[in-house]
Amino acid sequence: MATYVQTVDLDRLASVDEREALICEVQRGLIARPRSLSPWMFYDAEGSRLFERITTLPEYYPTRTERTILAGNADAIVACAHNDRSLPLRFVELGAGTASKTCLLLEAALRISDDVAYVPVDVCSSALELACQNVACALPEVRMRPIIRNYVTDPLELESFDGTTLALYLGSSIGNFAPDEARQILSDLRAQLQAGDALLLGTDMVKDEPTLLAAYDDSEGVTAAFNLNVLHRLNRELGANFDAACFRHRVLWNRTEARIEMHLESMQEQDVSIEKANIDLHFMRHETIHTENSYKFTDRRIGSLLRETGFEMRGNWKDSQGWCAVTLSTCR
Ligand code: TRP
Repeated sequence: MATYVQTVDLDRLASVDEREALICEVQRGLIARPRSLSPWMFYDAEGSRLFERITTLPEYYPTRTERTILAGNADAIVACAHNDRSLPLRFVELGAGTASKTCLLLEAALRISDDVAYVPVDVCSSALELACQNVACALPEVRMRPIIRNYVTDPLELESFDGTTLALYLGSSIGNFAPDEARQILSDLRAQLQAGDALLLGTDMVKDEPTLLAAYDDSEGVTAAFNLNVLHRLNRELGANFDAACFRHRVLWNRTEARIEMHLESMQEQDVSIEKANIDLHFMRHETIHTENSYKFTDRRIGSLLRETGFEMRGNWKDSQGWCAVTLSTCR
């Protein structure tokens, strides 16, 4: 079997286009009304660090719930995805983050195959570095090929692979995109897969409003810091002069669209300039920047999203409260 170098110089792989993408996005989103920013902008090193803290908060149920589902069903999930055990198995994870839940699936794969590869894909190089360290340390037999990539602005191109590919898209990251964008992301992914390959999709289900709101507005203010970090990032990377103390984290449940919305509200009338993007902004008091959506799903919506993007549902696992789902589908 080929040997792979497990330490990868991620800085060298980092996209030089990141600054350009940031500039484009602020020029699009902050000038438009209502103002908005794309969710990938949260994930610089500080944003990824804050997000890791969010995943451990008592109010933020999605991470631990999804982990429980994976822990209880990893063998069944992998068996469902990988029916020809003589073939090598490759996991490709979009938005891998630090891959804290992925080891459960990789371990299950190693119980039925000794040829397992892992391709974590993330926009944040520091998160990806942790992902690689975690996996290399716990499961040194897994071959790793990390990819730093903004899969939203820059769709993935996978190397051809002689075996089965199981794509992972967990943590309800798909819910951070509007229905059209979500379909685009899954269609782009489908185009990189072959018949017989599979997708494991993690989604957060519609549930009572207080539970949903608390998950995005925790009592320690970590989610507020995560939201406000977008402004700090623009100050750091684009020479903006946002005074983050003059903005407030706002969360609401939009029942019609079945989504949690996060906004940053300007607490006073103020001017901001973003030097490297060449823009000057004037905020009215109470004016908002829409920074995030987190769509919540029903079984029907999961089914139609998969069907419309070329996948066929094979298995669906939930926790005992039905709060989160993990759905396995294969390529039609
Ligand atoms: N995709 C997850 C969710 O929507 C994680 C996430 C994205 C998140 N942005 C967030 C969590 C903002 C808390 C706050 O829940």
